Amino acid sequence: MPLSNGHIVAGDPNWWKQAVVYQIYPRSFADANGDGIGDLKGITSRIPYLKDLGVDAIWLSPFYPSPLKDGGYDVSDYRDVDPRIGTLEDFEEMTSACKDANIKVIIDIVPNHCSDEHPWFQDALNSLPGSKERGRFHFRDGLGPDKSQPPADWMATFGGPMWTPTGKNDGQFYLHMYDAAQPDLNWSNPEVREDFLKTFRFWGDRGVSGFRIDVATGNMKDLSDLTIPWDELKQRRANKSKPGNEHIDHPLFDRDENFELYRTWRQVFNEYDPPLTAVAEAFVSPSRKRHYASPEGLGQVFSFDILLSNFDIKNYQQSIERQIKEAKEDKSSTTWVFSNHDMIRHHTRYGLPDIDPSNLFTFRKGFLKFLETDGKEPAVDWPTGLRRGRAATLMILALPGSTYIYQGEELGLPEAAAIPEDQLQDPYFFRHGRSDKGRDGCRVPIPWTKTGVNFGFGSGKPAHLPQPQDFGEFSVEAELPDPSSTLNMYRKALSLRRDLQTKEEMSWFDHGLGNQVLAFERPNGWLTMINGGKTCVPLPKGEVLLSSADLDDEDLPGETTVWIKRS
Ligand code: NOJ
Repeated sequence: MPLSNGHIVAGDPNWWKQAVVYQIYPRSFADANGDGIGDLKGITSRIPYLKDLGVDAIWLSPFYPSPLKDGGYDVSDYRDVDPRIGTLEDFEEMTSACKDANIKVIIDIVPNHCSDEHPWFQDALNSLPGSKERGRFHFRDGLGPDKSQPPADWMATFGGPMWTPTGKNDGQFYLHMYDAAQPDLNWSNPEVREDFLKTFRFWGDRGVSGFRIDVATGNMKDLSDLTIPWDELKQRRANKSKPGNEHIDHPLFDRDENFELYRTWRQVFNEYDPPLTAVAEAFVSPSRKRHYASPEGLGQVFSFDILLSNFDIKNYQQSIERQIKEAKEDKSSTTWVFSNHDMIRHHTRYGLPDIDPSNLFTFRKGFLKFLETDGKEPAVDWPTGLRRGRAATLMILALPGSTYIYQGEELGLPEAAAIPEDQLQDPYFFRHGRSDKGRDGCRVPIPWTKTGVNFGFGSGKPAHLPQPQDFGEFSVEAELPDPSSTLNMYRKALSLRRDLQTKEEMSWFDHGLGNQVLAFERPNGWLTMINGGKTCVPLPKGEVLLSSADLDDEDLPGETTVWIKRS
């Protein structure tokens, strides 16, 4: 099958393989009705901006009805729109405007858990132990003479216990891997399976092109042995993610039964022409990743290893090699990503001291520690962060595969580190005894104008998370007229990439400049060189197409990437 190039052709089943996907966190993108919360009409109004930016697709984080106990990842109705965000008609208006602009729409599906306000969970709470209604979730009797102790000592990802009592005096507890407001669904139950197929078709029929699958490793569970201590489960999970140990059994994480489930989803995705795509959120070892990425399964998996890297040329090279090799073997394509709604924004990360990148949670937390400064200005080396962030971004945009851009990163937006505690929303903060500020700093509404109410995000009530005072400097209005702005670098890069990226191949380029430099070539003489050191190196011959910072005559300055066209 032919590969898509940068110009997406309607009907091409491979369009996603080299697409630039722009992640929208709907509540924080654009607020058309002035209630302080971003909405679908806001997104529609900004489609010309996205078209000019040059993205191929947008991925919407959850916009469904939700009590917002986890930023919308607690869904109370999978087949509707949160009234604070809009209506189904608004959704149709948005997809049709995207279609006109040749932008595909991908939406987030949250199958591992729903909201405790989902009618199914409410029915379950109001039904007896052992009932059909409780069978859609994981309810178990508590331990001890009065059944008041949880059935296991397991801990939720957001902190605190993973089992919560029903509050109905019936001695039962329910399982939730995240917040207590996010009960886990029982995927061994055929009714749950059927209902999600209905959800996929519901959105497929409304013109979406694909799905991002939240916690794709979690759905299938084996709860036959609740005596396994939590410390052991944590250890098993850590070991299972290491190559060679994939056979380790874990009751909650990365079970083989998931692959059979995804084959049933794939059959539904393939009912559409072109087939619907899916990208899995899965932190697993390469030999496991393969199953999620398989064309008979979801098709693509987020690769987080380049995100989980400090600004380090050697690490980048290893990660690139690994990811490209894996994607080829899996008949999939790579997914480059530096920022998303769960991670400290990369332009800020790169201005902080390095962190051990081996674990996602400690990685994020480690950076957060540097940003928590009791009201004082955090010690971010901002010029370095921005410079490195831009260089790293130009590197991934030149690589084969798809790239995910998180709203605001094209403006070089920094993490909003100083949100007052009484305005934080992330359950991570609450369930960690307020010791971890959580992920709100990357979810602050983005600035569109230099000044004015909410910096143009919306003209009514204050933005639902407060914007830092200097946000106007990073606004679209401030950056558009400035040829050297980060926004213009992204725009130029995406536009060039459309023409340059015709084939998937890449090869390392022998530069002879030592280990501070990484260079690779794509077909048609498109050469990318990254200088990861602090000192200048000579530029290779050819026409300079774009650079992440000003060039120095014949030299490539430190922490800079350049795109060159070699004749
Ligand atoms: C991963 C999502 O990216 C994150 O935002 C969410 O909190 C958890 N899954 C739980 O749904």
